Formats: sequence, C-alpha cells, structure tokens
Amino acid sequence: MAQINPPAPSDSQRRTCQVSPSILSADFARLAEEAEAVRGADWLHVDVMDNHFVPNLTLGVPVVESLARATRTPLDCHLMIEQPDRWAPQYVEAGAGSVTFHAEAAAAPVRLAREIRAKGARASMALRPATPIEQYEDLLPELDMILIMTVEPGFGGQAFLDIMLSKIRRTRELISKHGLDLWLQVDGGVSADTIERCAEAGADVFVAGSAVYGAADPAEAVRSLRAQAEAATVGAPWACAH
Ligand code: DX5
Ligand code: ZN
Repeated sequence: MAQINPPAPSDSQRRTCQVSPSILSADFARLAEEAEAVRGADWLHVDVMDNHFVPNLTLGVPVVESLARATRTPLDCHLMIEQPDRWAPQYVEAGAGSVTFHAEAAAAPVRLAREIRAKGARASMALRPATPIEQYEDLLPELDMILIMTVEPGFGGQAFLDIMLSKIRRTRELISKHGLDLWLQVDGGVSADTIERCAEAGADVFVAGSAVYGAADPAEAVRSLRAQAEAATVGAPWACAH
C-alpha cells in the first residue's frame, strides 16, 4: 500500500517539544474530523489494543490505513498488542511515521526495530511502569524513540503515576551518557498539571488524550501543552541541542 501520510519530520525540522494527541479520547465514528481538530499537532497518537496485551480493544491496520489517507499529520502508532514482531511491520506499510512496540511483548526487539526502520518508519519501544529501563541500555542505539508509560496501558483518562518521574530522569541520563539522538516520549495522564514535571525530568514527546480531546478547543490545548513543556525545558541540555 502506498504511503500517503507525509514522512516523519527530520530531526532538523522537529520542535524541541512535541505533542502527540491520542485519538483514544476522540470520537471513533468521526476520526477524520477529530484528526483535523488537532491540526498543528506534531503527531497523531494511535493506540492499537488487542484485548490480550491490555484488557481493551480498539482498532487495527485497516483503520490506520484510512486515517493515514485522511490526515497530513504523521501517525504515531502505539501497539499494545501481543506478537508485535508479526504485526508491527504492517503498520509501517499502512502509513505510520512512527511505530512503537512494547518491550514486554517483543520476541526479538532488535530485529523488529531494524525491520521498522528498514521499511521507512521511526522505531520506538515502550516500557510498562514495572519494566526497568536499565536492562535495555544496550538496545537504545537501535531506537528512534523510547516510550515511558506513566499509567498502566489500556485506558485513557487514568491518573498520572508520578513514581515514573525517576525512570524518566534515568532514561534521559542514559540517552545523554551515550550521546544518542533518541526521543523520550511519555504517555498516560499527561496534562497541564503534569506536563512540566515530565519535561523537567527529560521527556520531549508528550502524548495527551483526555487533556486534548476533553478541552473546548483541542488545537489550542496542543499549543498550550507544547508551550508549557518548552518553558519547562529552557536551558535543558537536550533541548538546547536542537
Ligand atoms: C493508554 C494509552 C494512552 C491514552 C492516554 O494506554 O496508551 O495513549 O490514550 O490517555 P490520557 O492522556 O487520557 O491518559
Ligand atoms: Zn498510547
């Protein structure tokens, strides 16, 4: 299937802090309009759930294909599914600009990340709250983004787990220690109340579902969250590098 969705922004084009609104909090009967409602967002976060890896079921490849045709915002697909080794490449073919698989579900994360990159998308790996970052230190150069979950995956609208802040900090330290150009995404309970703490701890890509789609003006909520994160990271070494 031809990729109609535009390619992911190059590192020189990207902003210091990026916001990726999650359509999990949008109206699934009006996805094209809901994508349009957050025009100006850096990414559109698409939560794929299979009712096995998480106790919830959302959407799959055909919906991602249609969404990629319906919006010019690059798609950031977060796969909360078993057997990502088998399915993730199909999401690249469907038009995703970034594909995130879970470390806990991948059988061969290095091979999978290489396959995602070879097919033309950014490769990203997610960690559930109980999964430590340290055991993945050697894999980080294989990735374009690491996702630190700040809730147990499965549902939107959950409370932010501030016990994850130290993991975000340790992840940023590992990225700096190895001199990597690796994005650090946070997902779950990110809002005007929590985004600054995430940014100060070292996150630079922020997923927000209810904080964006629950707002009266979702596009304005994206801009406001991004401005808050940027203000919180002025002077941070990773923010100044770009
Ligand atoms: C949860 C999903 C999140 C979810 C976030 O498992 O991965 O992307 O949509 O929703 P909020 O921002 O409402 O916590
Ligand atoms: Zn997500």
